[in-house]
Amino acid sequence: MKENGRIKLMLPTLVAAVGVLGIAITVPQTAKPTLPDIQVEPPKTLGSPDNTSYAKAFPDEYTSWKRTEEAKENTKYAGSGFRDYLADHPELCVLWAGYPFAIEYNAPRGHYHALEDLYKTGRRNEKTPATCYSCKSPNVPTAMARDTVRTFYGNKFDHYIGEMKNPIGCADCHELKTMKLQISRPGLIEGYKAMGKDITKATKEEMRSLVCAQCHVEYHFKGQGKYLKFPWDFGLKAEDFDKYYDTIGFSDWTHAISGAKMVKMQHPDFEVFQQSLHGKRGVSCADCHMPSETKGGKDVTDHQIQSPLYNVDKTCANCHNWTPDQARERVYEIQDRNREMLNRAQRVLTSAHLEIGDAMKLGATDEELLPVRKLVSKAQMYWDYIAASNGMGFHAPQESARVLGKALDIAQECRLKTQALRMKHGATGDVEQPDISSKAKAQAYIKPFVEAAAKAAAAAAPGKPPRG
Ligand code: HEC
Ligand code: HEC
Ligand code: HEC
Ligand code: HEC
Repeated sequence: MKENGRIKLMLPTLVAAVGVLGIAITVPQTAKPTLPDIQVEPPKTLGSPDNTSYAKAFPDEYTSWKRTEEAKENTKYAGSGFRDYLADHPELCVLWAGYPFAIEYNAPRGHYHALEDLYKTGRRNEKTPATCYSCKSPNVPTAMARDTVRTFYGNKFDHYIGEMKNPIGCADCHELKTMKLQISRPGLIEGYKAMGKDITKATKEEMRSLVCAQCHVEYHFKGQGKYLKFPWDFGLKAEDFDKYYDTIGFSDWTHAISGAKMVKMQHPDFEVFQQSLHGKRGVSCADCHMPSETKGGKDVTDHQIQSPLYNVDKTCANCHNWTPDQARERVYEIQDRNREMLNRAQRVLTSAHLEIGDAMKLGATDEELLPVRKLVSKAQMYWDYIAASNGMGFHAPQESARVLGKALDIAQECRLKTQALRMKHGATGDVEQPDISSKAKAQAYIKPFVEAAAKAAAAAAPGKPPRG
């Protein structure tokens, strides 16, 4: 929506895989439909991955891009400074017990730091797949074009350490020479195809969000080959992801306390944003995160991609008749409400895991536990669809509230059923609440559960390498 009057629907009605659903009816109940396996190569006209090589030709864009390096004082919920989510909300360690996010989970910083932050994360080890580079460097499409996409994902992270040198930059979003916006990542092209859509037909306006959707989306690593896949076959809503992961029988890990099979959402920014009024009215990511100015008769886009709250006079005020204070207040009001819903859901989900863990201690069988484990897993997935997406609810306020309401409802249903199970097995009171009031205390609390779960997993599958 760069020019007024060019408001367009970003994503017309999603063509869900109707044929696939049709098959589901004719096969026995236990069999799941197989989803089509779509694989493409990166585009032919890749730009140079070296960001500095564009400095001379495009000084304004290059200089502002380089400023994503700046550290800044944080805004209330986001910003370009450091933020340790686990320290702010220690109960997250319980929600992710047995998964690397319980070890370290920090707020995103500017694009300039993407590679450096990846190299130093405590969540990486020698088994980490190269797939992890996918959203960090313009060297990725070049390596994919040379090695093939499938081989790239199949290789280990360490295989490309010398080669992945440039942080997110020009060639991630632009074609060589013409500097036209371009999709350099096969994952997004495949995600679009899975919805029955052709990304080469996207409008110029849509491209101002789609370049971001190469990375700011939900994804998972599919199969042994760690193939990067967006769960978009049924659409972009939380319910569509639920159905997708259920159909392929995918889980990221088994919860160390409750034994539930869990799915971790990544950062479905694009998907959540599509559900909002801004999204439906064709406002693009770039409208708020990359405002443009006329300079010497030419449009110059600010490439310092950051929180729009640092420059509301150029972002919100470009379309809304608000003072900077009014704009910020609007955002904070929406975010405070979302934060409150998130907190409530986190408390209830924490209790649900602890109560299932207690039912296990009391002797409930796996068969008895299956329904409640399914409920806690589903509730946490819905919560995470919002929790993991950036913007603290601003990107789609109403949808965020709806999905968090659903998460709370399912989590409470889980707790009621678990309570009945505990009673059946002789429980006399509530589960004692552990002291998880700091990150260190919460991590210490989950440690014995994580160790016991790892031991049990090793005993159940000898010779199978631990999950990387
Ligand atoms: C209508 C304006 C608007 C649009 C359009 C928009 N955003 Fe945002 N975005 C915001 C606001 C406001 C925040 C919250 C910033 C804060 O709290 O400091 C935000 C936050 C973010 C953050 C976290 C920033 C940080 O500092 O950690 C990311 C990442 C993000 N948006 C990505 C996107 C993507 C990707 C799209 C398109 C799919 C998009 N946004 C569309 C307004 C917008
Ligand atoms: C190649 C992948 C990729 C693309 C393309 C991409 N991003 Fe990002 N973005 C990231 C990653 C990774 C981070 C976190 C970097 C870190 O924390 O080190 C990030 C961080 C951000 C942040 C937080 C910045 C801050 O200062 O806290 C914002 C805002 C953002 N992206 C918006 C966008 C928008 C808008 C687009 C499209 C115009 C976009 N991104 C395109 C991968 C990408
Ligand atoms: C995350 C995606 C992204 C990255 C990274 C990126 N750009 Fe852009 N660039 C955009 C978007 C979006 C526009 C606006 C295009 C439009 O409206 O059609 C743009 C516009 C431009 C333009 C057209 C003139 C203008 O300023 O609007 C030039 C030139 C340009 N970028 C150069 C660069 C250079 C050089 C780099 C690397 C230093 C770079 N871009 C990195 C997304 C990106
Ligand atoms: C490119 C233009 C554009 C930009 C930039 C923009 N908006 Fe909007 N905004 C719109 C449009 C269009 C609507 C929908 C108006 C309608 O249909 O009634 C809207 C609606 C809203 C609404 C009402 C949403 C609802 O669900 O009822 C809020 C709040 C809002 N904008 C806040 C912001 C804030 C805060 C920023 C800056 C971070 C911002 N907008 C940036 C165009 C924009």
